[in-house]
Amino acid sequence: MVASIAELTLGRELTAADTAATVKALAIRQARGVMARGTMEQRARGTVPVQDGVVWERPDEYRLGIYVTAWLKSLERARHRAYLRHHVCVPPGGLPEGGVLLDDDQHPQALAYWVKRIAAGQETKQHLIAFGNVGSGKTAAAIALGSLAVQAGIMTRYVRHGDYVRWLRPDGAPAGLTALQVREFHDRCKLLILDELCGEMDGQATEAVRQATGDLLSARIASGLPTVIATNLHSAQIAKVLGDRIVSRLGESAMALEFLRPDRREPVRW
Ligand SMILES: Nc1ncnc2c1ncn2[C@@H]1O[C@H](COP(=O)(O)OP(=O)(O)OP(=O)(O)O)[C@@H](O)[C@H]1O
Ligand SMILES: [Mg+2]
Repeated sequence: MVASIAELTLGRELTAADTAATVKALAIRQARGVMARGTMEQRARGTVPVQDGVVWERPDEYRLGIYVTAWLKSLERARHRAYLRHHVCVPPGGLPEGGVLLDDDQHPQALAYWVKRIAAGQETKQHLIAFGNVGSGKTAAAIALGSLAVQAGIMTRYVRHGDYVRWLRPDGAPAGLTALQVREFHDRCKLLILDELCGEMDGQATEAVRQATGDLLSARIASGLPTVIATNLHSAQIAKVLGDRIVSRLGESAMALEFLRPDRREPVRW
């Protein structure tokens, strides 16, 4: 029996039986923890009112299966499956073999609290910005957050900014997807993790990159959909690449977390 997303994906290919087993494990976790609100009867029906009147509907197993698959596929396209070993907190079944908890400097409490509030429709800071130097653990934290969000019933996808804009070019979409699907996947998913924002752009972006990124972020802001952004750059540096307006609109409703640890990869220098 597979106990968690991380255990499921450590070095193995995903099968239909894996997905079904994971979904079962996630549903158990969810009923126990993240969203345990409302009366017993409401929880049994899967419709739980939260304080501000938003009704959160617990996804059924079919929908959870779709969310898990979408999350894993987005990580596979980025070749980041190995990051699934990172966890915000210990899963109910215990930390799977090879699993790693985030360190305190990766802000696990703040991340868990933000996910809970987003799941409940209560968060006022719509976006979360993880910024810090190279190798400080931003991607690990963002992916651990994403796995927690999926378990809380939030449809989540991961994409690197550079990949996203490349995929929108003619014939640039990954196998099996059209450019329109690439846009819709990332415009509309409940939570988007946009990694390495302006990472490979050397302080400049073409008009097409500016446009594509502006459209994506504007669509998400307009629909009230949360975005997690990881970047090595300060807001002023991003404004130089993408323009002041989009940085201002993002920052209007964002929480910024700084990652201070020196490069965890401890690279040799020569
Ligand atoms: N809490 C942790 N415990 C152990 N290893 C970790 C932890 N957090 C991250 N790592 C590992 O440290 C390395 C660097 O982390 P990560 O890729 O998340 O950094 P980053 O800030 O995203 O880097 P970059 O700026 O290059 O994108 C990775 O190999 C990652 O798996
Ligand atoms: Mg990274």
